[in-house]
Amino acid sequence: MAALKNSYTLPAAADMHVHLRNAPGPIAALVTPTIRRAGIDTVFVMPNLAPRPVVSVAEALDYKKALQQLDPEVNYLMSLYLTRASLRTHDQLAAVGVVSFEPFHEVLKTMEEEGIVLNLHGEVPSSAADGVTVMNAEIRFLPVLKDLVGKYPKLKIVLEHCTSADAVEAVRSLHDNVVGTITAHHLSLLVDDWSANVHHYCKPSAKSPEDRRALLNAVVTSNGKFFLGTDSAPHDITSKKGKGNTAAGVFTQPHALGYVLTALEEAIARGDIPADAVTDDVLAGFFSTYGRRFYGVAPAARQIRLTRGGARVAESMSGDGVEVVPFHAGEETWGVEWL
Ligand code: NCD
Repeated sequence: MAALKNSYTLPAAADMHVHLRNAPGPIAALVTPTIRRAGIDTVFVMPNLAPRPVVSVAEALDYKKALQQLDPEVNYLMSLYLTRASLRTHDQLAAVGVVSFEPFHEVLKTMEEEGIVLNLHGEVPSSAADGVTVMNAEIRFLPVLKDLVGKYPKLKIVLEHCTSADAVEAVRSLHDNVVGTITAHHLSLLVDDWSANVHHYCKPSAKSPEDRRALLNAVVTSNGKFFLGTDSAPHDITSKKGKGNTAAGVFTQPHALGYVLTALEEAIARGDIPADAVTDDVLAGFFSTYGRRFYGVAPAARQIRLTRGGARVAESMSGDGVEVVPFHAGEETWGVEWL
């Protein structure tokens, strides 16, 4: 017997971590129109554009305008890439990242005073010498998170795309200004899945069954501590399957809510979460109300209906010289209607 209902009527969703890529640009043109088709009216847009990330308000506003031309009805919440003024190209930033927050003391103090949210990709760089790989890079970051919370107690922080039981525990243990986002794909994938399929590879990478169980339980017991941030990260198929390093990123934008429902149902079948854990309130909170409340965004004005088996994921999406392969390509998933 199916553990979930066959249909859910919920407030429109908010996806608080998306990669839409450069706009105007071919990937943005392909993926931005899938936001509302997915039942989502609000997105928090990542600033890691290439070759140059978004580092000023003027750039963020230009980017927003270009996204609005692709779909004016989405509410785009824009963000800035935290960086020293001297390091502004994508390559420089990818090589350097922000490893120490010391040089940003004044910025963080001001963010704390002004209520500006700090969004963390919480991983330390891989280092054989220090024993850091993609499997423990997030766990090794958690002391940095705790240190930041100690130094800036009023700073609002999101630990983005949590993937480990330790990250869930850390977010739970910290005060209400610290929350976590959880993606759709980390609710189903394990390390074995991405080691076998480039389209399942992302950062932070999917981990163990115990980690996945912790994420699933965080969704159904969130109470506002965890909400949806898909980290949908489209890459052209050539950078997934080319000769260089495989680009990290799973593309989930068009069917994110359905992927979550399927993962929760599979979790019930495995015994990872209780059979009665997935209520309308849990889904409305995780998909929509908790994220909006944290960011101070008004509640959704419209509702959506999700229907079991109502859609099929495209095998791939292409246009203007690019091709992106969605998560669970070709499979049946939940349909979305706007009410
Ligand atoms: C992100 C992307 O593709 O922009 N990829 C990902 O796997 N999450 C970048 C990043 O967050 O590492």
